[in-house]
Amino acid sequence: IGRTKIVDLLKRTDIGAMVNVKGWVRTRRGSKQVNFIALNDGSTINNLQIVVDLANFDEEMLKLITTGACISVNGEMVESVGSGQKVEVQAREIEVLGICDNTYPLQKKGHSMEFLREIAHLRPRTNTFGAVFRIRHNMAIAIHKFFHEKGFFYFHTPIITASDCEGAGQMFQVTTMNLYDLKKDEGGSISYENDFFGKQASLTVSGQLEGELAATALGAIYTFGPTFRAENSNTPRHLAEFWMIEPEVAFNDITDNMDLAEEFIKYCVKWALDNCADDVKFLNDMFDKGLIERLQGVLKDDFVRLSYTDGIKILEEAVAKGHKFEFPVYWGVDLASEHERFLVEEHFKRPVILTDYPKEIKAFYMKQNEDGKTVRAMDVLFPKIGEIIGGSEREADYNKLMTRIEEMHIPMKDMWWYLDTRKFGTCPHSGFGLGFERLLLFVTGMANIRDVIPFPRTPRNADF
Ligand code: 4AD
Ligand code: MG
Repeated sequence: IGRTKIVDLLKRTDIGAMVNVKGWVRTRRGSKQVNFIALNDGSTINNLQIVVDLANFDEEMLKLITTGACISVNGEMVESVGSGQKVEVQAREIEVLGICDNTYPLQKKGHSMEFLREIAHLRPRTNTFGAVFRIRHNMAIAIHKFFHEKGFFYFHTPIITASDCEGAGQMFQVTTMNLYDLKKDEGGSISYENDFFGKQASLTVSGQLEGELAATALGAIYTFGPTFRAENSNTPRHLAEFWMIEPEVAFNDITDNMDLAEEFIKYCVKWALDNCADDVKFLNDMFDKGLIERLQGVLKDDFVRLSYTDGIKILEEAVAKGHKFEFPVYWGVDLASEHERFLVEEHFKRPVILTDYPKEIKAFYMKQNEDGKTVRAMDVLFPKIGEIIGGSEREADYNKLMTRIEEMHIPMKDMWWYLDTRKFGTCPHSGFGLGFERLLLFVTGMANIRDVIPFPRTPRNADF
């Protein structure tokens, strides 16, 4: 008989049928006559209960069925009385595929998240990380489905690049030479001329610039891939390697952009509630009793739309009334996550889209407003997270863009290809970037971004 996945088996009602299941032993308990094995194969959070009449099996084999061991069971579907499931399997034959000795670190339950991070190679076998990574998969599918159904094209942008999209100087260098070889070329000053790419190359911080090229050709595109930032910030919301989704749409203005962002996030959250119900419920009950309510809340309400200037006013009023922030509040400041969360969690109590930021704190490519001070930026701010999306309408005017590039001292020779979009049939267009792991933080209720990506890359952590 072929293997049945536990997720499928638990839905079956054909009592008496013979089945085969394979998986890893989570627990084993029972009496001298009968044992109960909780078996998990990763297909669902739910374990299958295997009933073993000890008298029917070889004693030596039974000793090998320990927590973490991998077994294959042939048995009969029987109705379950007390396992929390409708069906269980009465074992007829058991084969131990892989033994697991008592050095297995996941034998006891209730490990701390910090400890589990140190055994990132094994943590997908826990209930929590099984749930998180199944949800992660489902969110990726939801994202592709959303854009595909809307007629967007999935466009692949390069990971190795010579341009710094955000102009924030946080790029990881890609080189085949060591520093000594690079320096040797020009008596002390760094030259990449003889290096692989013949110039300084880096890991991308964003696919946006190439995404704009694509949008001004294919109309509506999105990217979905890994991005890299060498920002030395050890926070629960920053990774050095994270995944980003970046839609870019010709003819969309900032309002269209906000509409798209709101519809997109709601689609993803609804998808999680509809398709990951067991896993979401597990995380809700285990860690975060408000999770499901928060997810449903986001679907219900329109996001608040507010200018940065009005947002600052609200924060200043809060300060005047005695609210203490760690960082100062004034017009022109780059908002800290405590400010963003105050607006979302305490003032409005729902997601907020903040627009029209001071141009000094935003990237060169954003469309400039008439006031000469602000740009058509939009950040989507979420409860528990802060900024989940950053985006803008783009500056479509060649001369204005050039002026801004010069003001900000962005190296021009690396930008000629980007400027071509503004020379050859320029058009209004907009886009944004959603941090995939920030979305996952929201949907799973996990508290630390290191716990929603299988192998987190953070300062001092590039191991498995
Ligand atoms: O606001 P950011 O820097 O915007 C851009 O990169 C634009 N090029 C996007 C665009 O308009 N196409 O980053 C976008 C989002 C943030 O809102 C955040 O969710 C996430 O990416 N993000 C990070 N997530 C995890 N770790 C980090 N270090 C992140 N930096 C940004
Ligand atoms: Mg941002």
